[in-house]
Amino acid sequence: MPITKPGTMIPAKARPDLYLFAHKGLRAFLGDTLNRCGRMDTGDSNEVIQTLAQVRELLAICRAHLDKEEYYLHPAMEARRAGSAMHTAEDHAEHLRSFENLAASVRNVEQAKGDERHGAALHLYREFALFVADNLEHMHTEEIENNTVLWATHSDAELLALQKQLVSSIPPAEMAVFLRWMIPAMSAPERAALLTGIKQNAPAEAFSATMGNLKPHLAERDWYKLMAALAGL
Ligand SMILES: [Fe+2]
Repeated sequence: MPITKPGTMIPAKARPDLYLFAHKGLRAFLGDTLNRCGRMDTGDSNEVIQTLAQVRELLAICRAHLDKEEYYLHPAMEARRAGSAMHTAEDHAEHLRSFENLAASVRNVEQAKGDERHGAALHLYREFALFVADNLEHMHTEEIENNTVLWATHSDAELLALQKQLVSSIPPAEMAVFLRWMIPAMSAPERAALLTGIKQNAPAEAFSATMGNLKPHLAERDWYKLMAALAGL
């Protein structure tokens, strides 16, 4: 697919992007899960249990993400430009079928024994790889085409209000999973800005829990950059 299409809006100044950071997290989660499926040793039951648990968690997060987009973003687009959310809504219908097929493939790996388990795991790996490919294209379409619509039809204040509504509707357990993937996937300045906001606005326990969950997943260099950015707040 081409990176941009004619008519794509490239804003002269940065506009609120309601997709980018969540998608950076999802891209990281999808890639890591695909790698884990590829290297899974089907003779090691613990590894199989942990890998399949990650696939299930990924599918649950993708489902939650899809639901939020459909509840908050698509109606906002449709209200100002009828038909503008149709393309991604069709993709979502396809993704719902993929969730079911992948969940069935996960169960097949669980139930298979011996050599059969190897075949079932290979099937899951390949099916999951196609799901990742599909999602990478889909997220690109949302970031380019849907943002073009949102930026043309909404002010920054309206977009930030919509983002606030969406983010505050995410249950804490689900948010913890999002943050675990999203924060390490951001650049150091983006990460520092996000955590500055959390430190200044969230309860102290929520901030320290976020930092504690984050540390094992951050490279040492990134951790020190973050410490430097948060020092003195
Ligand atoms: Fe989507």
